[in-house]
Amino acid sequence: MLVIGSLASAIAIAVALAIDWFPEDGSTSSDEIDTLWDVLLVVSIPIFALVMTVALFNVWKYRARPGDMSDGPPIHGDTKLEVIWVTIPAVIVAVLSVYGWVVLDNIEDKREDRMIVEVTGQQFAWSFQYPMEGGKKVPSNELVLPEGRQVEFKIRSKDVIHSFWIPEFRLKSDAVPGITTEWRATPKGTGTHQIVCAELCGIGHSTMRQSVRVVPEPEFTAWLDKRSRGGEAAGAAPGSQDQAAGGKQVFNNTGCNTCHTLSDAEATGEVGPSLDELGQVAGERKPGTKPEDYVRESIVDPAAFAVEGFDGGTMPADYEKRLTPEEIDSLVEYLLDVSSDAGGESG
Ligand code: CUA
Repeated sequence: MLVIGSLASAIAIAVALAIDWFPEDGSTSSDEIDTLWDVLLVVSIPIFALVMTVALFNVWKYRARPGDMSDGPPIHGDTKLEVIWVTIPAVIVAVLSVYGWVVLDNIEDKREDRMIVEVTGQQFAWSFQYPMEGGKKVPSNELVLPEGRQVEFKIRSKDVIHSFWIPEFRLKSDAVPGITTEWRATPKGTGTHQIVCAELCGIGHSTMRQSVRVVPEPEFTAWLDKRSRGGEAAGAAPGSQDQAAGGKQVFNNTGCNTCHTLSDAEATGEVGPSLDELGQVAGERKPGTKPEDYVRESIVDPAAFAVEGFDGGTMPADYEKRLTPEEIDSLVEYLLDVSSDAGGESG
């Protein structure tokens, strides 16, 4: 049994270590966490293999032969065996706990120059705030981080429990209404990673995904500076091509794309009404209201008019606060721009 169990363990460990379990490592904690994961595999696989080998062997060896109606020999407790099988797992678990605690403590180590980012989860999008000196906070619907600087996420929720997870950073924490949770990580290298909600939070849970952009420090400073002065589309003239392009960015960064379908933005959400024909139906939905006014109202006051088949109370009602006036302008412009074509002959 020992030979079979050891052989099975060796093969399973080799396979387990060869599997690439995680996405690219995006933070300085990734290595340590990946090693912890490997250690857990190496420790738990032999236990599983040996226990299964003993169990299967005994099922086969001591099976009832045809005609044998006996209960088998009477067996009583074996103190020595019991002490052994309680002690060994206890020691293993204790050692792994200490190791896990040390790794977590290392990762959570607060750095003097860390940056705070406030994260808010709300069905079904994440939004962010960058506290500045003097108490001002810069809001953003896109998460941008400087490379190589520790960031401390202060995570809150406005409605139900969500979970703020960046797989490339290997860390996550629940966003729980009423309390603030946190985790820290130091982004390693530049690039774009995913933000995933890892707690079932309602109909749009699976689409509650955004991205985090890690950029060099100077680029981050410039971005934050620009944002603190009032939004990305601020400089674009109304009705211009730039403004519509800015609108697409707002659409994607704000999380509109997680709940609505819009072909131009490759969005396929089904929580809210599809926006593909918005430009054509805007006038019919609220006769007497200009399409741009209807669209604007739907963004800043979604409960004012619910499209048939949808509950007007699902969409967050605070976009007027979360977006700058320029961002809302460009979003309205963009939505009407890409949804007004009659779609060819289909009309
Ligand atoms: Cu938010 Cu799942």
